[in-house]
Amino acid sequence: MSEHHIGPIDDFPEGKGTEVTVNGISIAVFNVGGTLKAVHNNCPHKQLPLHLAGHSEYGVKRGAVEEENCSIQCPWHNLEFNLDTGHNPVLDQRIPTYEVDVRDGGQVYLNL
Ligand code: FES
Repeated sequence: MSEHHIGPIDDFPEGKGTEVTVNGISIAVFNVGGTLKAVHNNCPHKQLPLHLAGHSEYGVKRGAVEEENCSIQCPWHNLEFNLDTGHNPVLDQRIPTYEVDVRDGGQVYLNL
């Protein structure tokens, strides 16, 4: 496992996903009520990016970042993924999850 600095916590707005690329791997980082969670940025349904969950397009919110059960809805067809396990019960598949560490006055590190 290796650690990668991905920026200050202010780069990851609450309730939304943010894409980062580490070692050529696209990763979606979500700020869930002030806690950062990271998953592989590729929905197994149609291989579309998950990081747009929580963003708005033409005034309409795409997908969702849900604090209650620490999950997201895919911004494309709304399948739900738990951000701790990466599991989706409909597909019965898991997306890879990554450990996030915030320290040094709000600097964010990702472990791959
Ligand atoms: S691409 Fe994610 S639910 Fe379809």
